[in-house]
Amino acid sequence: DQLIFDDGMAGSLLRQHELEDLKAQLEAVDRMLDEKDGPGSEFLGWLDWPAQLETTELKQIQKVAEHLQGLADVLVVIGIGGSYLGARAAIEMLTPTFGTLKGMEVHYAGHHLNGEYMTELLAYLENKQVAVNVISKSGTTTEPAIAFRLIKEMMERKYGKSGAKERIVVTTDAARGALKNLADKEGYETFVIPDDIGGRYSVLTPVGLLPIAAAGIDIEAMIRGAREAQALYLDQPILDNACYRYAAIRNILHRKGKTTEILATFDPAFQYLGEWWKQLFGESEGKDHMGIFPASLQMTTDLHSMGQYVQDGQRILFETMVLVADNGQELLIPDTGEDDDGLGYLAGKPVSLVNHKAMEGTAMAHMDGGVPVLKITIPKKSAYWTGHLFYFFMKACAVSGYLLGVNPFNQPGVEAYKANMFALLGKPGSETLKEELERR
Ligand code: PA5
Repeated sequence: DQLIFDDGMAGSLLRQHELEDLKAQLEAVDRMLDEKDGPGSEFLGWLDWPAQLETTELKQIQKVAEHLQGLADVLVVIGIGGSYLGARAAIEMLTPTFGTLKGMEVHYAGHHLNGEYMTELLAYLENKQVAVNVISKSGTTTEPAIAFRLIKEMMERKYGKSGAKERIVVTTDAARGALKNLADKEGYETFVIPDDIGGRYSVLTPVGLLPIAAAGIDIEAMIRGAREAQALYLDQPILDNACYRYAAIRNILHRKGKTTEILATFDPAFQYLGEWWKQLFGESEGKDHMGIFPASLQMTTDLHSMGQYVQDGQRILFETMVLVADNGQELLIPDTGEDDDGLGYLAGKPVSLVNHKAMEGTAMAHMDGGVPVLKITIPKKSAYWTGHLFYFFMKACAVSGYLLGVNPFNQPGVEAYKANMFALLGKPGSETLKEELERR
């Protein structure tokens, strides 16, 4: 069993010698990662993290998750960006959309500023047994801070101060930030986000692992998958290494005008994998006026909305399909002995076969229409392979960002809206900017 990266449908825009031509650059990137001396290397903690994560820490995360499961049915995960997208991706991929859950029912807050959503969530939580995991590395991000203030008040009203304390877990920096101070003051159970791991590279730390474990997913298997990915993508010869090949081919296509990459999946449960992936690549590469614009589509849903554009719109696209080899439990199209709906030719065939043929048909149509198609296939949808996939994409993103010539670990651009928002809200200290913005 292995992750398979297939560039056989990249079309005429990719010639094998171009990969050979990039080999020296890839080796230089490999050295930078190895020697940790490239731009932003103070944030390379995620690179060795799976192997370094202590069993005792993993067990402690599991223990706290079980404690919360014992106290509550619903977990509210409060966080934004890298502080929630990885957990949400894994939870949506690996827990049932309908029916009985093995772990807690998870809801999200602090990932936007919409009051109506929060009003509805608070009302919904009124009659539930609730636990909370508030996650913020800086501990000062406005969206989760507002959500936590609202939810903390609700929890203390519902359970009293000490009952609420039992049910609130904080994941934040070891020493800094308002959330750290609050956690110390209130005596909340706390997990630390390592200094050298940025938000979008943090899914395999307590940031992702605690909510994922609370949702009933096997985090040991997830870390095992990531660990094996770490070893594999460290050792393989560079041009046979799926991580490096994917990163190199993205850059080759980008240099030829393919400025948008679509991550396409064929399982509705993969929607948030797309959201996590977009943040990872968008925030890592979109800087210095460069970078591929990452987009995501769910198939076959979006073939009935965005399919027209992909097939026929501006030729600035390439597509990366994330596929799963094992279809899980097969569902057969009923053989009714009738053909009124015109589906007699499919009677008795699995739905997964139709999905697979739709994928093959789409890949060929897009390739013929001038959209290079790359395929990443994992053997099955499991905690182990999700851990592997997370690591694969994080490493590929770092390699790709270095090939592009940017620092893949900072995000200076996200400050611009914040400065304006704070000034417009009248935050003390921003009076001059407030005046200027209000004049505009
Ligand atoms: O990847 C990142 O660094 C960001 O997306 C952060 O995760 C996001 O802004 C949330 O920050 P914090 O965890 O400090 O609240």
